[in-house]
Amino acid sequence: MTKFTAGEMLELRAQFPALHQNVYGKPLVYLDNAATTQKPQSVIDRIVAYYSHENTNIHRGVHYLSQQATEAYENARKTVADFINAAVAHEIIFTRGTTESVNLLAGSLKQFLLQEGDSVLISGMEHHSNLVPWQQICLQNKTKLLVAELTNKGEIDLEQFKQLLSQKPKLVAITHISNALGTINPVKEMIRLAHDFGIPVLVDGAQSVAHTTVDVQDLDCDFFVFSGHKMFAPMGIGVLYAKTEWLEKMPPWQFGGEMVDQVSFEETTFNQLPFKFEAGTPYVAGVLGLEAAIKFIRQYDMKSLEAYENGIVRQALEMLQTIPGMRFIGEPIHRAGVISFVVDGTHPSDIGTLVDKMSVAVRTGHHCAQPVMTRFDVPGTVRASFAFYNTEEEVEKLVKAVEKAVSMLR
Ligand code: ALA
Repeated sequence: MTKFTAGEMLELRAQFPALHQNVYGKPLVYLDNAATTQKPQSVIDRIVAYYSHENTNIHRGVHYLSQQATEAYENARKTVADFINAAVAHEIIFTRGTTESVNLLAGSLKQFLLQEGDSVLISGMEHHSNLVPWQQICLQNKTKLLVAELTNKGEIDLEQFKQLLSQKPKLVAITHISNALGTINPVKEMIRLAHDFGIPVLVDGAQSVAHTTVDVQDLDCDFFVFSGHKMFAPMGIGVLYAKTEWLEKMPPWQFGGEMVDQVSFEETTFNQLPFKFEAGTPYVAGVLGLEAAIKFIRQYDMKSLEAYENGIVRQALEMLQTIPGMRFIGEPIHRAGVISFVVDGTHPSDIGTLVDKMSVAVRTGHHCAQPVMTRFDVPGTVRASFAFYNTEEEVEKLVKAVEKAVSMLR
């Protein structure tokens, strides 16, 4: 692994125009990367180029532009497949994002996998997008929702997880990295345990793809979902990866143009993979933007970026914990770039509002993971979330801003 130097980091950072602006008269310190990352110029340029010179509908036209755009779109599918090491490109289904990917899966699996009396196993740290779809499908199908509990450190209780597996749920749906706690789950091990019982596994990779290398074949997950906008790509584009054997069994979720083969008033036959799952005009610019984001990331050694980001997070943890009354919500052994905290005697949203005025952008609240807040008995947290373009200086500004906010509130 080559070390990612401060100089290289500044060069990388220079490629993100949104990071170079003042808010309230001071340089923006952007620490809300778990909500969405900023975009490098190459991603912005790719979208502009598409709409400036290449715009047309795809898979439908014989004309030049349509053929070019279709080829670019399908090449991008190959790039995404390669990025997460899917076995074949048709295992990549483009969606609007993680939420739509989970809904697609839930809407399709409920038709043949989940019957009355079955169960689905999730964990206590799921984002609402990997909780509510399963909960609602369970209610509709009279299926039971099982929940793997969290330890006080904010890790999944693996002993209880194993016990729940012995109840033979029809699916396990777990997050790779918690957006509310920062916990990196041992998903490879959890997949192996589930497979020992013959149970398929969905991994929510919304918080992992931009921060660590993902190899779906090595993980051996059955399904993997993620959003483009949390990995430097545009909003509104996402991915459902599924093994071919599942995609072949799964009925389509949405109906319309392009997902069909033959249509009459009496019946319809469906298109081949992956088109069976991509009804309607797709978000071509988004797909090309996603490809540009992957090309951007791939210029660098992911392990070096990860090590750099881990260093920044360690620094932030060490400095924040010196603030009197600081309580981290989630103290996992394996943590990604998310730090959630509360400070005694203050409300998280007051801290968030005050540090914002000091040009530091963090998120406050329940982070779309209300059961996590209930588990830790807090109304919400302050969450600083990092990307590999954040600097040590920004960590210092965060800590100073939180200190000042706390002193104003006490
Ligand atoms: N899921 C995003 C977050 O954690 C929006 O902030």
